[in-house]
Amino acid sequence: MTPDLMELGSKRIEEHLSKAQSFDTDSGGRSASYSRLKQQNEIDVTHGRILYLEGVNVSFDGFKAINNLNIDIAPGELRCVIGPNGAGKTTMMDIITGKTKPDSGQVYLGSTINLLKHSEPEIAQLGVGRKFQKPTVFEHLNVFENLELALKTRDGKGVSSSLFFKLDSVYSDRLAEVLDTIHLSTEVYHEAGYLSHGQKQWLEIGMLLMQDPALLLLDEPVAGMTDHETERTAELFLSLKGKHSLMVVEHDMSFIAAISEIVTVLSEGSVLAQGTLQQVQNDERVIEVYLGR
Ligand SMILES: Nc1ncnc2c1ncn2[C@@H]1O[C@H](COP(=O)(O)OP(=O)(O)O)[C@@H](O)[C@H]1O
Ligand SMILES: [Mg+2]
Repeated sequence: MTPDLMELGSKRIEEHLSKAQSFDTDSGGRSASYSRLKQQNEIDVTHGRILYLEGVNVSFDGFKAINNLNIDIAPGELRCVIGPNGAGKTTMMDIITGKTKPDSGQVYLGSTINLLKHSEPEIAQLGVGRKFQKPTVFEHLNVFENLELALKTRDGKGVSSSLFFKLDSVYSDRLAEVLDTIHLSTEVYHEAGYLSHGQKQWLEIGMLLMQDPALLLLDEPVAGMTDHETERTAELFLSLKGKHSLMVVEHDMSFIAAISEIVTVLSEGSVLAQGTLQQVQNDERVIEVYLGR
């Protein structure tokens, strides 16, 4: 990957994005995805990486929250990230999604898209979906309406018209598939406000899936779930792997054990260890800073 090629890649994307409309809503970064033009297959993964961070640093008032962080993720991978509170896990997601700009370092989506050159809504449009800890579904809309609202419109008509546009078969197929994936087919006309905590989390994941993100970042997705909901969520994530790339931050070790391939341990803003769950569980340094407590 030469700097010229990288420049060319970002120029092309800038052109795409300047044609896209964005909409202001209260739903945070999600709004941008209604008009997402970037398709997953436009991300160059020929170098075997969907996400690449190198030498990333962030300080908050002199405190180094992220310290020379290096991490990369393969296309279709389900990466788990663990580590003590304050290790920088959420800040890392803030950097990838453009919420926080690092002081130095590189952050790439595929080998050509320099995420540091893009705003938070643009990064969502490029195909990076993010699930925050708290569910943020539209409580007064039903499951179907929430998913429908999350659809990207093909003609950039935006949120208000997307509420009323007629679903064509591609989108109704997607909607049915997502409903099935998130186990909410029988709750399709239930108001979201009446769903259980776990079901709200699944609905929000479904809303992200409607936009067909290349990369999904999930911050403590099973916090507050019942054991049964946690098991269903593990199944859900395993079914997403391969079709999407996922980065999952969790403290629940039985959940990690159920879904993990490679586990990255963050501590003090850097990668402390990386390997299978068994490998990192047997690592003295990991036991000391995290697991041994
Ligand atoms: N916007 C911010 N301003 C100041 N300090 C922050 C900010 N965001 C995170 N931090 C600090 O950075 C460190 C890492 O936080 P965080 O990424 O939330 O950790 P984790 O998600 O691993 O628990 C913490 O000490 C936190 O207080
Ligand atoms: Mg956190």
